[in-house]
Amino acid sequence: MKNTLIAPSVLAADFANLQRDIEMINNSEADWFHIDIMDGVFVPNISFGMPVLAAIAKHAKKTIDVHLMIIDPDRYIKTFAELGANILTVHYEACPHLHRTLQAIKAEGMKAGVVLNPHTNVDLLEDVINDLDIVLIMSVNPGFGGQSFIENTYEKVRKLKALINKKGASTIIEIDGGVTSKNARQLAEAGADVLVAGSFVFNSENPTETIADLKKLTAI
Ligand code: DX5
Ligand code: ZN
Repeated sequence: MKNTLIAPSVLAADFANLQRDIEMINNSEADWFHIDIMDGVFVPNISFGMPVLAAIAKHAKKTIDVHLMIIDPDRYIKTFAELGANILTVHYEACPHLHRTLQAIKAEGMKAGVVLNPHTNVDLLEDVINDLDIVLIMSVNPGFGGQSFIENTYEKVRKLKALINKKGASTIIEIDGGVTSKNARQLAEAGADVLVAGSFVFNSENPTETIADLKKLTAI
């Protein structure tokens, strides 16, 4: 049976009760913390930065997955490693020297991943797939939580899975944006290994139960 990982997005947490929400994730069936860093340039929104991540890392007891939505991410690789990131993903669209960026992330002891915007074709990864621990497919345009899921994502996941198999890579596939109980199982069936969920988890009546439901739904 496949154990699909669930990564709640802290962007949707209550920042006035951040420690409470971190403990909720610690004590739930969630697998990772998903942390969205936005610079207001690469995406039209600013989320939070280093001091907030440091506070999260102090309490988080699970893998910290940092999604950088920033231009020129190379400048901050070392900083994010020092802050406690276990996984660092950078946008394909923000990295003219992606191969070098991935090596720099690994040199700091983190898992390295690339993120694709909805318009970016998975075939562009053919020459770098064996260097990638993770590919994160955006199923919304990055910048905001609470948007609706782009249906073309299923097809993209299947294409990426085929490329990974063809190249004999061990890359895992993560999906981010608009994930709910309506699409989670189908995403797992298409080949997704990790599902990020922000508003679906935190806007629900019982986030702990919602996470457990997503785990159950995606155990295929
Ligand atoms: C969007 C972020 C997502 C976001 C997901 O730019 O990368 O991680 O928090 O939120 P939901 O699950 O609400 O779409
Ligand atoms: Zn994200």
